[in-house]
Amino acid sequence: MCGIIGYVGKRKVSQVLLHGLKKMEYRGYDSSGIAAVSAGGLKILKSVGKIENLERKYSETPIEGIAGIGHSRWATHGVPSEINAHPHKDCSGKIAIVHNGIIENYGELKSDLIKKGHKFISDTDTEVAVHLIEDCYDGNIEEAVKCALPKLKGAFSIVCLSSDEPEKLVFARMKSPLVVGLGKDEFFVASDVIAFLSFAREAVYLENGELGIISPEGLKIYKFSGEEVKYKTSMILWNADMAEKNGFKHFMLKEIYEQPASISNTLAGIITNDGFSFSDAHIDLDLIKKVRRISIVACGTAYNAGLLGKYFIEQIAKIPVDIDVASEFIYRESLPCDDSLFIVVSQSGETADTIEAVKKVKSKGSGIIAVTNVVGSSITREVDGVIYTRAGFEMGVAATKTFTAQSLVMYALALYLAEAKGILSKNAIAPYIAELKLLPEKMEEILKNVKNIRRVARMFHSCRDFLFLGRNLNYPLALEGALKLKEISYIHAEGYAAGEMKHGPIALIDCDCPVVVIMTKSFLYDKVISNIKEVSARQGIVIGVASEDDMEAESYTRVLIKIPSASPYASAILAVLPLQLLSYYIADVRGCNIDKPRNLAKSVTVE
Ligand code: AGP
Repeated sequence: MCGIIGYVGKRKVSQVLLHGLKKMEYRGYDSSGIAAVSAGGLKILKSVGKIENLERKYSETPIEGIAGIGHSRWATHGVPSEINAHPHKDCSGKIAIVHNGIIENYGELKSDLIKKGHKFISDTDTEVAVHLIEDCYDGNIEEAVKCALPKLKGAFSIVCLSSDEPEKLVFARMKSPLVVGLGKDEFFVASDVIAFLSFAREAVYLENGELGIISPEGLKIYKFSGEEVKYKTSMILWNADMAEKNGFKHFMLKEIYEQPASISNTLAGIITNDGFSFSDAHIDLDLIKKVRRISIVACGTAYNAGLLGKYFIEQIAKIPVDIDVASEFIYRESLPCDDSLFIVVSQSGETADTIEAVKKVKSKGSGIIAVTNVVGSSITREVDGVIYTRAGFEMGVAATKTFTAQSLVMYALALYLAEAKGILSKNAIAPYIAELKLLPEKMEEILKNVKNIRRVARMFHSCRDFLFLGRNLNYPLALEGALKLKEISYIHAEGYAAGEMKHGPIALIDCDCPVVVIMTKSFLYDKVISNIKEVSARQGIVIGVASEDDMEAESYTRVLIKIPSASPYASAILAVLPLQLLSYYIADVRGCNIDKPRNLAKSVTVE
């Protein structure tokens, strides 16, 4: 969850580090620090809170060097404080490291190191790594890191700097992401390419169990066992502009507005003249024809998109689908089934629970494909095939454009499976595709008309509880609407299947409880209206999200938000936009830190 960075080159090292840390603040932001080696030896600056606090310190006491390392923290071991902030140094004060991940055996390592005379000052697991490196150190930092690595258990990526070799950085990856950026006579290493997008166009993604060195002489990569690796470089497809707000007040709002483009791009990546193609997913048509069950695994918003996928696939391709949150799936006794296909959905491709789920599936020998937004992410290296959402970089901690892109992919996959199994002919699929092509235009319409949604946000921003209800395809949207609201506004919100409301949540309903009902037209419309009446009968305030051509909706609801009319399938992708906007404007009126909600990190790389 933390963001780590290293730089070797001729620019002002601390400025590159601070720039990179700001770009990666979405990964964690309770404290930060940088280190570089200048004439006076190793210098470290740390600060609690936002990176701006560290920048302020840097402007008072600048530190520079040829190489430097930096870190933004999302606390796991030890409270957010300057002492616990990275970089951590050894007893001699010559070696510093930054770390992302969790060193699981830090307790035993720490006791051994204390017995050997090492002095610890923080509560972090990271500090053991730097003392372990010191313990191995014999004048060569590369050898010391190589010697320390096999003793560390858990997930980690580290970058290490020594004042004895001030132009060199040694780094390693085990289960936490790390990527090297190749600039002109300069080198970067970071948790995410976003950290150096402005400076480098080529990247090398490290594999688990690899260690690297960057220095003015270049890049070298080795396996932990010592064997040199012939690395592959990839072009970076994202550009620096994607990491700017471009006039929007928050990244989240910018990303909500990017949805028409993200849907067009994602569609362009999977559509052919007369159907869909998932060439990167390497979907074997013979296998698809035999698939008897699909299992979807994901977390958070990606889970909600996966749940929508379950409805799409079951209704369109007639294949039974089960779905789990990854953190439950990995410890559940899942019963093997022949001819089953697993699909993991993950925006970042780095979520620890989802990665563990992939490993579990692989150990059982089942086929697995991933739906992800990040090229080269950890999950893409573990699965049999990948379907990329082409939503562009998502900076806001609250996922928005990736949810609609994932939902679109799941819908397209359902149509593809239906055709492959002979349930729908090419001709029958054509009208679905034609409607999908209209989605960006319909999204634009919603985004042009936010006045009403802002008004609703102002009416209800001070409520303490919200309920979100939907049936069938709209049930995952109810979950997503509630998740968005609680994430960024800190209002308690629950998403429920509308028919389940009478089994418990109905007890919460009173005149202070807004109930958002996604009531777009479907075969269950009448049942949804009955649920609305049950809410109204208990003085609940119904906020309806309905289709434009629904002339009855107004009579059932206190407040109404309309979206362009579409089929139930396409409506399920459209109707989340007003929910995202409602959460956004409520959080904005409440003055919340929308792009960096408290306690949250964009990619959750710990279990
Ligand atoms: C979304 O708004 C959340 N921040 C969170 O639930 C997220 O969707 C979840 O952590 C999964 O992340 P992933 O898609 O990168 O795997």
